[in-house]
Amino acid sequence: MSVLICPVCKTRLKRNSFGYSCKKGHRFDRAAQGYVNLLTARHSGSGDDKGMVRARTDFLSKGYYRPLAERVAETAVKLTEGAEASVVIDCGCGEGYYTNILADKLPRAEVCGCDLSVSAVRHGASEAAARKLTNVTFFAASSFELPFADRSADLIVSIFSPVAAEEFARVLKKGGRLVIVSPSPIHLYGLKSVLYDEPYLNKPNEYGLKSFAPAGEERLEYKITLGSRKEIADLYAMTPYYYKTPPEGRERLSRLETLETDCGFDISVFRKK
Ligand SMILES: C[S@@+](CC[C@H](N)C(=O)[O-])C[C@H]1O[C@@H](n2cnc3c(N)ncnc32)[C@H](O)[C@@H]1O
Ligand SMILES: [Zn+2]
Repeated sequence: MSVLICPVCKTRLKRNSFGYSCKKGHRFDRAAQGYVNLLTARHSGSGDDKGMVRARTDFLSKGYYRPLAERVAETAVKLTEGAEASVVIDCGCGEGYYTNILADKLPRAEVCGCDLSVSAVRHGASEAAARKLTNVTFFAASSFELPFADRSADLIVSIFSPVAAEEFARVLKKGGRLVIVSPSPIHLYGLKSVLYDEPYLNKPNEYGLKSFAPAGEERLEYKITLGSRKEIADLYAMTPYYYKTPPEGRERLSRLETLETDCGFDISVFRKK
């Protein structure tokens, strides 16, 4: 990928047999699993931990969010239509569930997955290799300090991840698109009805996207029924409620064998001005 910049000195990174290096001699090796760690000391050790990564991987592998992945991929196909080789970055990509589906559906694009969590990108890269996807690369990197040159990307995708408005604006080309997926008001209401005595609807997020114009909005909602304690525990572990549920709520959830809940996703598209 020709648009990468060194996280230390910000000059261009060149690809070589061991990974990447810049002209000032900073060197970033490709790990055996295929990802490249571009985190500097400032960022290391953050992001989702191994347990959370495993819970999310197991849950996503059951296909409950596949309709969302398909819809995001269809949106990305439409937004990059006609372009020869688009650069597409999935920021805060987690273990690459959506990134690898994007790479599969956009065979002419160069797709990158970036996440602060090394365990997450390690998983994404292993999965890409297992599926023989050759147009996707995973980097450990922060969304707030992306290892990409100014105006180098055609599309940035951010799914349930931190929105770094200014950094996304720097990296996107003029007219490039940003797709943000966030929970709709009803998302996981069934789960919250078990956890809390007074469940609440999700509030919309404010992103401060000064350099962007709205370019489309879609809401995808459907119900799912989780069929085992393990699936329920995995879903719970990948939500923010995991950290803020009173013990009684946790106890109620642990007794359930099945759980029906709404899923709701707001898919918002923005155009870089
Ligand atoms: C809720 S998860 C979503 C992951 C993935 N997009 C998905 O939907 O499966 C949020 C992700 O953001 C990552 N993250 C948190 N802060 C970040 C940052 N500053 N830069 C990049 N990734 C970050 C976490 O490590 C985690 O993988
Ligand atoms: Zn350098």
